Amino acid sequence: MAEDKLDETASRSLVADFISEVIHSPVNLALVALIALLVYKIFRSKTQPDEPVQQYKELPKIRRDFTVEELRPYDGTGPDGRILLAVNGNVYDVTKGARFYGPGGTYAAFGGRDASRGLATFSVVPGKDDYDDLSDLTTDEMNSVKEWEEQFKERYEYVGKLLRPGEAPTNYSDEEEEGSQQENESKSKSE
Ligand code: HEM
Repeated sequence: MAEDKLDETASRSLVADFISEVIHSPVNLALVALIALLVYKIFRSKTQPDEPVQQYKELPKIRRDFTVEELRPYDGTGPDGRILLAVNGNVYDVTKGARFYGPGGTYAAFGGRDASRGLATFSVVPGKDDYDDLSDLTTDEMNSVKEWEEQFKERYEYVGKLLRPGEAPTNYSDEEEEGSQQENESKSKSE
C-alpha cells in the first residue's frame, strides 16, 4: 500500500515537472502546440474526408455515341447528376469533376456540350447549339484541343464518339459482351 502511494506521488511529480518544463520553455510550448495542431488535422482528415470525394456518387459506366442534342441533358441537372462533355470528337464522363462542370461550376458552360472550341479559344461561354465541325480553328488551336483531350483522357472515363449530323452510332454491345466475358474469365481464374 505504502509503495503504491510512493509510486503515485513520484508519477505525479514527474507529470508536474513535465508540465512546468513545457510551460516555462517557449520552444517546448511551440512544439506542443504544433503537435496538437498536427494531431487535430490528422483526426479531422480521417473523420471528414475532402468534400469533393463525397460530392458525386459513382455512376454506372456508359459506352455509347452521342449527338450534340443527346449530350445536352447531361449537364449535371438530371436526376442522377451525370455530366458528359465532348472534346475533339470524343465524349467523356466528367461527373467526378462536378465542382467544375456542374451547375454553378466555373466551367459549367462545358457540361453537356462540346467544349472543344471553348477550350481552344480560352472562352468559358457555351458553344454553338448545333454540331461544330471546328474547321475554322487554326492548327495551334486544334493542337490545343488535342492537348486538352489528353488531360480529359487521363482524368475521366471515355464514353463514346460525338456524332456528326447523320453519322450512325457505333454498336458497342459486342464490346460490352467481350468485356464481361473477359471479366468472368479472369474471375474464374482467380477463384
Ligand atoms: C484567370 C483564368 C483562369 C484561372 C485562374 C484558372 C484556374 C484554374 C485552376 C486553379 C484549376 C484547377 C482546379 C483544381 O484542380 O482544383 C483549373 C482547372 C481547369 N481550367 Fe481553369 N483557370 C482559368 C481559365 C480557364 C479557361 C479560360 C479555361 C478554358 C476555357 C479553363 C479551363 C479549365 C479546365 C477544363 C480545368 C480542368 C478541370 C478538371 O480537372 O476537370 N480555365 N483552372
